[in-house]
Amino acid sequence: MAGRIPSAWMDELYARTDIVSVVSAYLPLKKDGRRYWGLCPFHHEKTASFSVNPDLNLYYCFGCKAGGNVVQFVMEMERISYLEAVKLLADRIHMTLPEVRDDPDYEKRRSQRERLLGANREAARFYHELLWKPEGKRALDYLHGRGLDDGIIRRFGLGASADQWDSLTKHLTEKGYTLEELNLAGLTVVKGENAYDMFRSRAMFPIIDQYGNVLGFGGRAMTDAKPKYLNTSDTPVFNKRKGVYAINLIRKQRDLKRVLLVEGYMDVVAISQAGVVGAVATLGTALTNEQARLLKRFAPEVHLAYDGDEAGQHAIERGLEILEAEDVPAKVLYFPDGLDPDEFIRQRGLDAFRAIRPMTPTAFRMQRLRLRCDLETQEGRTEYAKGCAELLRKVRDPVDVENYLELLSVQTGFSREVLIAQIGVTAPTPETTAQNNFAENREKSQPKRSRVSEGFRTEQTLLGLLAAGAVPKDMVKETDFLHPSLREAAKHLLDGRTPADIMGDENVSVEVREAAGEAFSMLTNTDKDHAAQIAADCLRNLQIQRIQQEINQMTELMKTAETAEKQGEALREVAALSKELARLKQQGR
Ligand code: UTP
Ligand code: MN
Repeated sequence: MAGRIPSAWMDELYARTDIVSVVSAYLPLKKDGRRYWGLCPFHHEKTASFSVNPDLNLYYCFGCKAGGNVVQFVMEMERISYLEAVKLLADRIHMTLPEVRDDPDYEKRRSQRERLLGANREAARFYHELLWKPEGKRALDYLHGRGLDDGIIRRFGLGASADQWDSLTKHLTEKGYTLEELNLAGLTVVKGENAYDMFRSRAMFPIIDQYGNVLGFGGRAMTDAKPKYLNTSDTPVFNKRKGVYAINLIRKQRDLKRVLLVEGYMDVVAISQAGVVGAVATLGTALTNEQARLLKRFAPEVHLAYDGDEAGQHAIERGLEILEAEDVPAKVLYFPDGLDPDEFIRQRGLDAFRAIRPMTPTAFRMQRLRLRCDLETQEGRTEYAKGCAELLRKVRDPVDVENYLELLSVQTGFSREVLIAQIGVTAPTPETTAQNNFAENREKSQPKRSRVSEGFRTEQTLLGLLAAGAVPKDMVKETDFLHPSLREAAKHLLDGRTPADIMGDENVSVEVREAAGEAFSMLTNTDKDHAAQIAADCLRNLQIQRIQQEINQMTELMKTAETAEKQGEALREVAALSKELARLKQQGR
């Protein structure tokens, strides 16, 4: 979108648009200091964590991390395109759109996207209609045989691909789509002279995003044919790591208390038919960070309801880590006997499903550990107790700890006192030490939110000050920022771009915009009054942290050095660094 409307014109639009009055048309805002607060329209909440910053023309939700400029706000609320939102805002203040600058590339991408979505929509309609014709009877019978009724089949827009080579390809070329487009959309396979349908003889599950666009398909074989599910591979409009199956349906669900994440398309459809709301699935891959962030916008919690088999249980452990890293409260539904949600609800009914008590991540992890340890032996009980103690160290509420302790004591025979002592002494694992080791961590892209490091916060504060124009630009360098997202945002600011411009730029990655959006919205008024002082403190703290990390690294090196010479070298280095550290700390007093 950069390059589409001249940025000077956009800057004028931002400057003349009062974001507070735009947002106020959708939700009540209350003023506090220079900022305004309200209940976030993008996720369910009871206390206001949605903030509007009129100085920077930005909104940001501290709960779900949705953020952006006024144009994006209107896009999200009205479900309209960028250009439509710009137009709507321009109309409000009687600005006329400039001659749209030619960006053939952008225009090409946009119109291609529209063509591919159009082809997908036609395909979904074609597959769905086929279901009610003789050619689709086999698929209809299959779906009925899986316990689905016509109502649910319609609600999910399920369909059938024919037992023919090219019926969809023919249909869509007649509608004016080129083979190149169909190939790009993943609907048609083009090999030399030949073109044939990607999906044949399968029951079809259209994958639809929250705006109603058909992005791709999953096709279930009706025999033992492999693969069992054939999915659209990544296309210009479909990315299996970002999309979520049935997100279009939970979007309509107001006041959803939790999203229920299951493994399969069939699970989603089957349990929805039974009356469970809020079910979604990933698209044949493990849960990704992007998907976790997307889900967070729809409900305050995510419940993992994966298959009861070993693979499913293992995937839950990974899923919990992802959700925790994205600060999404999570619970686990456990299905006995290796059942998946679809099988469970069909065999035992909705009431049994509802009776399953969601487990906390800690309870789930203890249960997993329990399976690995033989509690018949002292060794096994010891291992289990130690492992659980480590888990319990992370539990915040003493009351919760107490509940787990009781169970643990019964299971292992260790007294409460011993267990409490164990929780107190459990040494940091090699894993946590590695996490603290910045040198190792800084290569990794994103700092994990749940353990936002002090360095990350400091850098965000600095970035916020820079964005607010509260510190002179020559005081801060791009290289002062070690976290890649924040560094990129800093670069844009130092290049003279406004925060609103950065937040509105599609070419800036979502990670960068989220981290920067938070930083831009963090500052309080008092912060601003002492901006220069705070900025200097930030810079010094960052420097201190960096040196501290170098010292840690050197100390490690000293321990493992092979020769006395190398050891001496490291020792001298540590001494020099320590001196520098002391100097910086002295300065801070
Ligand atoms: P499962 O094999 O658990 O599917 O795969 P399921 O829902 O129980 O399927 P049914 O009940 O046999 O019809 C779970 C998910 O993994 C992906 C699909 O997204 C599926 O929904 N998958 C599975 C594939 O992408 N390809 C496959 O070959 C198998
Ligand atoms: Mn199944």
